[in-house]
Amino acid sequence: MSQQNREQWGTRTGFLLAAIGSAVGLGNIWRFPYVAYDNGGGAFLIPYLVALLTAGIPLLILEYAIGHRFRASPPAAYRRLNRFAQPLGWWQVGICFVISVYYAVIVAWAVRYAGFSLTQSWGEDPEAFLYGNFLHVAEAPGPLGSYNLGVLIPLVAIWLVVLVVLALGVRRGIEWANRIFIPLLAVLFLILVVQALFLDGAEVGLNAFFAPDWSAITDGSVWVAAYGQIFFSLSVGFGIMITYASYLRRKSDLAGSALVAGFANSSFELLAGIGVFATLGFMASAANVPVSEVATDGLGLAFVAFPQIINNIPVAPALFGVLFFVSLMVAGLTSLVSIVEVVISSVRDRTGMRRVPAVLVVGGFTAAVSVAVFPTDQGLYLLDVTDHFINQYGIALAALVVVVVVGWALWRLPMLRRHTEAVSSVPMRVWWALTLGVVTPVVLGFMMYDSISAELAANYGDYPSWFLNSAGWGVAVGVVVLAVLISLIPWKRRAGDEDDTNATVAAADQSGKGQ
Ligand code: ALA
Repeated sequence: MSQQNREQWGTRTGFLLAAIGSAVGLGNIWRFPYVAYDNGGGAFLIPYLVALLTAGIPLLILEYAIGHRFRASPPAAYRRLNRFAQPLGWWQVGICFVISVYYAVIVAWAVRYAGFSLTQSWGEDPEAFLYGNFLHVAEAPGPLGSYNLGVLIPLVAIWLVVLVVLALGVRRGIEWANRIFIPLLAVLFLILVVQALFLDGAEVGLNAFFAPDWSAITDGSVWVAAYGQIFFSLSVGFGIMITYASYLRRKSDLAGSALVAGFANSSFELLAGIGVFATLGFMASAANVPVSEVATDGLGLAFVAFPQIINNIPVAPALFGVLFFVSLMVAGLTSLVSIVEVVISSVRDRTGMRRVPAVLVVGGFTAAVSVAVFPTDQGLYLLDVTDHFINQYGIALAALVVVVVVGWALWRLPMLRRHTEAVSSVPMRVWWALTLGVVTPVVLGFMMYDSISAELAANYGDYPSWFLNSAGWGVAVGVVVLAVLISLIPWKRRAGDEDDTNATVAAADQSGKGQ
């Protein structure tokens, strides 16, 4: 895919909806409410906002700038920035591959749970139902055992939808899917939040959620949590925004789009917090326990606490359940499409393959790995460990290496700033380079230190070391090794595939001011 023939978004709104669709995902609905609650409630919003402005939006603009300036997916874009930077791109491709294989499984669970909601088939004990009747989780980590058709069938369906959307292309596939799904998600979620606010005890949950614990502001781990939430939620560090921005027209307001996408994502996150805590307030009041006893994160919140609550909702419980799980599915689906597109687009830029064959081969392979591994009795353990390690030592570590390499080692922030300002409505001045060059590396460095210390102090999730070494460290390190090896394969030049040595960057920079 040469730069001249590169696919393009139909409209700026189409691009913005796709960027918002990628950002708004499982992280907004089940991760944010709990993280906020656990880290100071209302007071958490201050570190959260600081993290958004000093790291989230600057990194979003950096990814937009790299994708737009070099008009390529991560490996080719970083290679055009500097030929030695290519492994950074393949690292992000590997991260996207790993995330997509398990992210799809959670979306598949949401599909099943939307169906279960109609009759509340999880019965009186949703926890036993989830781990036993539904997932058939093995006693302990070990070799892959029995397959679970109840997960396999919706998982295959999810992959078919994702591959069809991707095969239809940027404009007719990704853009159209987001044009339909994002407004749909907004409507479904608004109805859900309104229904939640009318539940008895909703105000108890909201008070617990927003009650500010000001002492949290002086706690370093609260700041780490805020930055971690912003990275995951905004989809920065995956290379997604490099890929999506590479499909923008030359004249595109990069900084303005980053602000819109960033604030839209946070608004949705806040709405999710209100909806989830109003619901938890209902449950806490009905059981006469404090909200802290019913607030859980991740799987526990979506697939155990919510089914318990749905069991007790007096009016239209099935509607409430369908709204919640369909929202989760839609939010996850649009994020999944963006994650897999990074892999497809990168292989296309590297090999010159056309879109449909690339989707069939690369997308088909990704889907096959997902379908072969995760609907088994080991699926939940693998998902939990891989997710933890690829987030910490994939996304966050890659973001740290990118800012250090691009900002300090290659000194490319001034060039990327000029490029962005030439096309943007918002001036970035010193704020952008300062936050990206200083604040982001310091915070990410501290996050790495904090998380590695925790890793060394105790085995994550009390899993056996052999399992963490293979499914956790093995996957995270394996992705880096593969990235370096792929970068060593000589890259044949094709028309329009020039690489930017220092001289060409400088020349393009001079002539490109008015782009
Ligand atoms: N940003 C996506 C999410 O929140 C990955 O789930």
